[in-house]
Amino acid sequence: MRLSVVLPLCFLVNICFAAGQKKPPGNSAPQGAIENGQSLFLQNCAFCHGRDAAGGETGPDLTSSKLVAGDVAGSKIGVVVRNGRPQKGMPPFDFSDQQIAELSAFIHAEKTKAASQQGGRRGVDVADLQTGNADAGKQYFNGAGGCSSCHSPTGDLAGIANRYQGLKLEQRMLYPEGAAATATITLPSGEIVTGRLAYRDEFTIGLQDASGWYHSWPAAGVKYTISAPAEAHVDLLGKYTDGDIHNLMAYLQTLR
Ligand code: HEC
Ligand code: HEC
Repeated sequence: MRLSVVLPLCFLVNICFAAGQKKPPGNSAPQGAIENGQSLFLQNCAFCHGRDAAGGETGPDLTSSKLVAGDVAGSKIGVVVRNGRPQKGMPPFDFSDQQIAELSAFIHAEKTKAASQQGGRRGVDVADLQTGNADAGKQYFNGAGGCSSCHSPTGDLAGIANRYQGLKLEQRMLYPEGAAATATITLPSGEIVTGRLAYRDEFTIGLQDASGWYHSWPAAGVKYTISAPAEAHVDLLGKYTDGDIHNLMAYLQTLR
């Protein structure tokens, strides 16, 4: 099923063969989820979305996509990949839950890379950062944005403009590191494993450990807790307008 979709595309663009050779040998040993995701991405997605997921001639930049920013372990990406957007030029793919989680791990890793390249993130114009209105930002912070229910300009955010400037500050605001959910899993042996939540459904829970490896367990066989303290930021991405973001940036830049 998957081959029938992918092969014709490969013949069209003639790029899958080159990408296929880069695939690490052997699929049976557990490999880092990001690595698996990368080889899936190179074979199936890169010719439209670019090898680094930052956009190609026929597919948009995924590293600056709001949908991707709101994705946890494939929750949003999986829907797009499985249904495709045939009218817009994206075909559907038939991937397993684990493959979706791996693709998601790779896309998020590229997103992190893109965000850490100072000034390199597409879609943000440094000049835009200076166009906001600090008073409007302050109002939004205390009002509609609900920021003040978790933050204080004289508490945790005091001096934030000294710690981060420009795009770096904007990234901290839009995608705080704490936004990724953390899973803590207690195995039957009593061993405790912690990492970034990479996959969860009724039957399976998976995480990505500090060195990037993907591990999963039957959900019924282990005890687990999930914490996502900055999850509010994921919801916020769907709410703020560009104007709100510029005003907030102007306001945060007064916190010195
Ligand atoms: C033949 C070209 C093509 C291929 C192959 C392709 N895509 Fe896409 N993809 C697109 C296009 C075009 C869009 C934009 C659709 C639209 O405008 O709604 C898109 C949209 C998306 C989006 C939604 C982005 C957003 O912000 O709404 C995601 C996520 C995505 N693709 C992931 C993937 C992944 C993962 C693969 C590989 C499994 C893949 N795509 C393969 C062309 C492609
Ligand atoms: C439900 C609670 C909650 C709400 C609402 C919330 N945040 Fe956060 N925010 C967090 C958490 C948790 C973090 C992660 C803390 C960390 O990484 O140090 C965070 C991180 C940040 C950071 C990065 C701080 C740093 O030191 O790196 C900024 C800036 C920020 N938020 C701004 C905002 C703004 C602006 C709003 C409103 C539009 C907002 N937040 C709404 C919980 C929240």
